Amino acid sequence: MSGAEKYRALKGMRDVLPPEIDLWHRVEQTAAAVFETYGFREIRTPIAESTALFTRGIGEGTDIVEKEMYTFEDKGGRSISLRPEGTASAVRCYIENQLHTLPSPQKYYYSGPMFRYERPQSGRFRQFYQIGVEAFGSASPVLDAELLSMLRQLLVRLGLPELNVQINSIGCEACRPTYKKVLLEFLEGSRDGFCPDCQRRYMSNPLRILDCKVERCVGLRQGAPRITDHLCEDCRTHFTTLQTLLSKLEIPFVVNHEMVRGLDYYTRTAFEVTSGNLGAQNAVAAGGRYDRLVKECGGPDVPAVGFALGMERIAGLLKQLSSAETGGPMVFIAAMGEYALYEGLRIAEKLRSEGIWVETGDSAASLKSQMRKADRLASEYVVILGEDELTAGEFTWKRLKDGSDGRAPLAGIGPFFAERMVSSRKRVNVVE
Ligand code: HAM
Repeated sequence: MSGAEKYRALKGMRDVLPPEIDLWHRVEQTAAAVFETYGFREIRTPIAESTALFTRGIGEGTDIVEKEMYTFEDKGGRSISLRPEGTASAVRCYIENQLHTLPSPQKYYYSGPMFRYERPQSGRFRQFYQIGVEAFGSASPVLDAELLSMLRQLLVRLGLPELNVQINSIGCEACRPTYKKVLLEFLEGSRDGFCPDCQRRYMSNPLRILDCKVERCVGLRQGAPRITDHLCEDCRTHFTTLQTLLSKLEIPFVVNHEMVRGLDYYTRTAFEVTSGNLGAQNAVAAGGRYDRLVKECGGPDVPAVGFALGMERIAGLLKQLSSAETGGPMVFIAAMGEYALYEGLRIAEKLRSEGIWVETGDSAASLKSQMRKADRLASEYVVILGEDELTAGEFTWKRLKDGSDGRAPLAGIGPFFAERMVSSRKRVNVVE
């Protein structure tokens, strides 16, 4: 085995490179801007936690805890796990830092890598990135609606308004046991026909049989009783109020009676945002309410709701939208000769300080070869600085895409390009 083969990235883990990373920045920056208008503040929690937090938080019978965690013993003999998701960590952080002593609701967002030992496929990785939000301290469906509205606003701002929002209610500890009984009675006769995972779920987590994608399981559960027909009074009111609020906010949604989510902590509201353009792994974002989890993890009795977006999947959709984007610099400076070189470098620094991406050519090379390089880099504009231009206090500009050109005063070069900034991609964040 050659060195290059031996040291390949681990299966299901990948490098994120330019120009894809530009899309990631866009998503991260837009998410932060949107979330902060709703009062969410960023938290950063460790990538590893004690295994017990996830076993307790996510649930022993879940696929994540049963087969997907990266768990190992540290040098002190403690069992620790790489986080498979962000909610359990956020809950631990909320309790440990006594954030419940602050006015409710407390609203937080986070982003970073998560780890699940799943079978890699398109859109499914073993290390993947999430941007998540968690709001603690209100049981009101108004908060659920606000979160869905915030998620929608983010997707609209990213140019992805066509995604499908599916919601369901999976009840609470008062009504779910009754529903489980009714469901088990319905499924009992066909039990032997289910896939091995669902046979296991029949004992440990029968609701999960409802969203199994295996064809024979889909067939066998046809006509299964719906959980929304077995909700207690409080859960029913919560769910109908949420639907009214979403309609008032003009957020399109459908009720999906089979969506139950793969994590055990959910109560009442569960939701997923899916896309028709992603193949089998079509969930772009997902979340729900988890009113019992803070207490179960040793904190006070505080209800909560949140969601997380899958970064690779969002970036995949944005990539499909922006295939025409070239990803080159806004300005390429082609200076001719030594004096023009100094002037060119000075101008490049000035434009960069204004947030414009600038590349410079080799002033010793011919104009033709510098133009070729500008073209290879997919530059938007070339600025030509020769003796002629500098004597007149001007610069020559050429727009490569359409061949237009002209001359303009050097003194106004900053505003000239600021006005022509074609897309935010080319404007790098400027710290004022
Ligand atoms: P989740 O449904 O497990 O929920 O993951 C949320 C999103 O992360 C998914 O919709 C998907 O876009 C992305 N995702 C999950 N697994 C992978 C993977 N293997 N590869 C690529 N992307 C993936 C949670 O994690 C909950 N913590 C969400 C939440 C927050 N609920 C309440 N608050």
